[in-house]
Formats: sequence, C-alpha cells, structure tokens
Amino acid sequence: MSVLESFQAAALPEHIKAMSQQEMEERVWEIKRKLGPRLFMPGHYYQKDEVIQFADETGDSLQLAKTGAANNGAEYIVFCGVHFMAETADILSEANQTVLLPDLRAGCSMADMAEISQLEKAWKKLQGEFGDTIIPLTYVNSTAAIKAFCGRNQGATLTSSNAENMLAWAFAQKERILFLPDQHLGRNTAYEMGLPLEKMAVWDPIRETLEWEGDAEQVRMILWKGHCSVHEKFTMDNVRQVRKENPDASVIVHPECMFDVVQAADAAGSTNKIIQTIREAPSGSTWAVGTEMNLVHRLMQEETDKTVYSLNPNMCPCLTMNRIDLPHLLWSLESISSPAPHHVIEVDPATKHEAWTALERMLQQ
Ligand code: 13P
Ligand code: SF4
Repeated sequence: MSVLESFQAAALPEHIKAMSQQEMEERVWEIKRKLGPRLFMPGHYYQKDEVIQFADETGDSLQLAKTGAANNGAEYIVFCGVHFMAETADILSEANQTVLLPDLRAGCSMADMAEISQLEKAWKKLQGEFGDTIIPLTYVNSTAAIKAFCGRNQGATLTSSNAENMLAWAFAQKERILFLPDQHLGRNTAYEMGLPLEKMAVWDPIRETLEWEGDAEQVRMILWKGHCSVHEKFTMDNVRQVRKENPDASVIVHPECMFDVVQAADAAGSTNKIIQTIREAPSGSTWAVGTEMNLVHRLMQEETDKTVYSLNPNMCPCLTMNRIDLPHLLWSLESISSPAPHHVIEVDPATKHEAWTALERMLQQ
C-alpha cells in the first residue's frame, strides 16, 4: 500500500469523529464484552494510555512474540503496536486467526531502513568478501521479508531482551554475524559481550559499502546502518546535563541508543529491563530514562515514590506507535462485525513460512 493509500485508509468515519472520548471508551468495552474470547488485544508498552487500558496483555517485543507463539486461539487479534509486530503476530498465528492493525500508518522508521532488495545485494557482496562465514540475525523490528531471508539462510530473529543469548547462539554457528537493522543494538550488545569495536564493521545499504578500516579477516560483526529515530535523540549532551544538574540521578537507557550514550549511562536494557529496574529501585531514587515517552510518562505516574523523567527534556513519543489511538482502535473493532474487517495484516504464505523459521529459532533458545 502506498503512503497516500495508507493515509486515505486511516480517514475515520463521521460517526466516530462525532463521538466523545467517554462514548468511544464505552463502545470499546461493549465490543470487547460481546466478542469475549474471540478477541485478543496485545499492546506494546510504548502505546498510549487511551489504548493500553484495553490491552489483554501488555509487554515488550519478546513477551508479545511469545504470547503470539503460545497462541490463545482468539479468532481476531487486534494488535496495539506497530506494523512489524502485527506481522509477527500473523506469522505466529493459526490459519483461522485474523490479525488487525488499527492504523496502517503505524510503521517503524527503523524497520523501513532495511529493504529486502538492499539485503539481497548486501548478502551477495559480503559473501563475495567473506565467503560462507556469515549468519544473518535480525531484530524483530524488521519486515517479514527480512525475517524470511534470515530464516532461509540459517539465521534467526532477536529482540532487545534476548540479544546477548542470540548473538552467542549465532557465533556458535558461524564466524561472522550480519546484524539488521539497528546498528546500535548490535554494537552495544556485541561490545557488552567483549567484542572490541575494531572487530565491527558497518554496512551502508545506500552506498553499498562496508565502512571499516584494517584487515577484513578481523571483522566478526557486520552492522546494518539503521537506527531508531526515537532512541537516537538521546545524546551525550543530555547525559552531561543530568550529571551536572542532578548528580544523584541514575541514567538508564534502551540499547537502541547510541554507543557513547549507553557507555555513559548507569544501566542499559530492554524496555522490560528498564521497567523492572525502576520498579525495584529504592524509594526516593531518581531516574533519567532514555526510552520512548509514553512509557516514561507511565513510569512517572506509577512510581510515585521515585522521581522519574526523560533523559531528553524535549523528547516526544514515537510518532508511529502513537498512530494507534482510541478512535482508530474503535473503528478497527467495529469492523470485525462487518462483512470485511479492515486493516488486516496478512503475510503471504511463502514469506510466512520462512519468517516463522527465523522466529522459531529465537523462541527455541
Ligand atoms: P523492545 O520491546 O524489545 O524493548 O523494543 C523497543 C522498541 O523500539 C519497540 O519498537
Ligand atoms: Fe520503531 Fe523506534 Fe518507534 Fe520502536 S520506538 S517503533 S524502533 S521508531
């Protein structure tokens, strides 16, 4: 679907535009009650409160993928998250299940940074350079086609919660890893595991070149030049400012942040780890958090015995996660009882099969 088409498809019907927040909420609860176990609504931690209040399960990417694999048997899965998450749910679903994404504009700029045609070109060049020594690993924040590529080339998926395990698994299979699409998660994880920066190269998919100096034989980690446009907004200046203004504050960041920021932080970890760390922290402690704003706001509201704020004072939520709002959620739920539910996410069978293999290799670890 083109960008224009996805914007047209997101145009709300008049009857929803005319409803108040309370009316919409009541209607969502009513549809949920009516559909009962026929409907399942997973929600990522980065979703807005107006949406997450209805989620049957809230979690990070790993948790939600595991839930998908365990499969609750619901006929309809309305995914409150972004496109790649809904695709993952569809890949792990049964044939009789339908996955809906309330707004098709809820993409992910990081996932968009790795296209399958770019990967195929890169693979050819890198195989030419390094021979059959590379295993592809992709962050789940990628398209189904990228996951399928990993599946058919002995590779797997990973999330920020299991990145170290998956890198250890991959290094046990092959000498080198091609890591997609987030260079920061790849670099931060490999460094944490003891791999020096000199052994990491960067593949630029636009220029089709490997950025690295020295002896190619030394390269163990090839990082795709992609990033999260949200987490890249946390900078060393932000860390310096917190250290200066509040020396007692602890800085905790997501590993999608840049290397220097992760190194300068007191702790780094997946969304789940950030939540656990702050929940278990002593009362009265102060936390400057480098991750998505909807989650930071929720932690501010929930952890009232601690001081929690964003590491970057000018931060805003992930724009694409934020596309899923109450009106679009309601519209999606209403469409379930129509002859043609809309915004259905359906991965084609061949891609689905190979992407499933990549996800399954992760879930088996
Ligand atoms: P996790 O859920 O793995 O922490 O990923 C964060 C993220 O950016 C999701 O889009
Ligand atoms: Fe993508 Fe980053 Fe938004 Fe997650 S937070 S959906 S990685 S752009």
